[in-house]
Amino acid sequence: MTDYWNHNVAHHARIVRAMPPNCRSALDVGCGDGLLAQKLATRANWVVALDASADMAEQARRRTAELDVEVVEADFLAAVRDGVLPRHSFGFVTSVAVLHHLDPEAALQAMASLLEPGGRLAVAGLAMSRSAVDWLIAAAQLPIVQTIRLAHGGKSGPDGMPMNFDDIPSWAQSKRTALDTLPGARWHRTLQLRYMIEWTAPGAERRAGQRRASVPVERT
Ligand SMILES: C[S@@+](CC[C@H](N)C(=O)[O-])C[C@H]1O[C@@H](n2cnc3c(N)ncnc32)[C@H](O)[C@@H]1O
Repeated sequence: MTDYWNHNVAHHARIVRAMPPNCRSALDVGCGDGLLAQKLATRANWVVALDASADMAEQARRRTAELDVEVVEADFLAAVRDGVLPRHSFGFVTSVAVLHHLDPEAALQAMASLLEPGGRLAVAGLAMSRSAVDWLIAAAQLPIVQTIRLAHGGKSGPDGMPMNFDDIPSWAQSKRTALDTLPGARWHRTLQLRYMIEWTAPGAERRAGQRRASVPVERT
């Protein structure tokens, strides 16, 4: 299923493993070309893949055309504010390399608000080294990072992917944001210059038999 590899794709297996068992509905925020949504669809009954870029949403639609995946072209925070994404309706919410495109606190709060009780959040994000300790850790990781990259034949990805290298937080900032915004969250560095945030929404056991949410956007 993985037709290319890069430092975002390297997190997909871990993210799929973080999905709750019997997951009915999953959301990928900033889905890009839909590769992760395609994988989530193997474990969830229904997946929403959202991206603000018309080009990315179109690529995601093409990739997931045969799957139970609904692609939404929208700004994430606007979609939550306007109720396009219903609150408390997803068993799993994920996002890879997107948080630095958004207001990170608002985005984490919005993602958390979409989870049903006991639902899980798994976010992979970018951070930058800004302290001596950060640089030492990065230097120690470098040979492993390069070896993994070579083993995959180098990095590649879809054409036209929107990037933002201006607002990448430091490791310390990203950790503080995660732990302040989502009390009880787990934050840790990964090998590919990314961090992972994992969090479980408080509340009762996920209710069996709950109807899936519906998003008022037509598939094309
Ligand atoms: C670096 S790419 C990562 C894409 C994909 N998650 C991956 O791992 O390959 C960031 C993605 O976030 C999307 N994005 C940026 N701002 C957004 C917003 N406000 N709402 C929804 N998506 C957004 C971009 O269009 C882009 O596809």
